[in-house]
Amino acid sequence: SDPDPLQDFCIGDTKSEFSVNGFPCKPATKVTSDDFFFDGLSQEGNTSNLFGSNVTQANVVAFPGLNTLGISMNRVDFAPGGINPPHSHPRATETGVLINGKLLVGLITTGNVFYSKILSPGQMFVIPKGLVHFQMNVGEEKALTFTAFNSHLPGAVVVPRNLFASKPSVPDGVLTKAFQVDKRVIDEIKSKFGA
Ligand code: GLV
Ligand code: MN
Repeated sequence: SDPDPLQDFCIGDTKSEFSVNGFPCKPATKVTSDDFFFDGLSQEGNTSNLFGSNVTQANVVAFPGLNTLGISMNRVDFAPGGINPPHSHPRATETGVLINGKLLVGLITTGNVFYSKILSPGQMFVIPKGLVHFQMNVGEEKALTFTAFNSHLPGAVVVPRNLFASKPSVPDGVLTKAFQVDKRVIDEIKSKFGA
């Protein structure tokens, strides 16, 4: 859902600052075949972390050939039991295909209705723009999915990090009131994220 470009392509000149809606274009005389290819999604991500998952991004910052084209992808690896925690993409609808494993994919609407399904390899899902969603590996093996977005920079608001690991942190009084728990519970959650 990014705006349409007004030229064939605009390979991002990453030596310049990311500015309004992207990078300036690399001069056409400097463009090579390599600018249209990216191998950053070929490697398995390291899932040894709190969530047991890893998102490798192929957005405009990682792959400047996507600049202004309104499209990007991720690779998401999951250890058994791993979760890609509830998050939303403010600037894009997401679609994905499961390559390996058994993956629970869930989304929650603005009206707080929860939809979900356990996918097998080859099956796809769609997450409407901005809605909170997650994936969880519910199989015994690793899981792997590739996702695609209709923005060159979809952005991700990862709910637990957003609320409990922001810098500076959200005041405890806001979180205790919002979640109707004591400060001890908030402190415990914050401590898990090194906050
Ligand atoms: C999965 O939800 C992803 O954002 O790649
Ligand atoms: Mn997502």
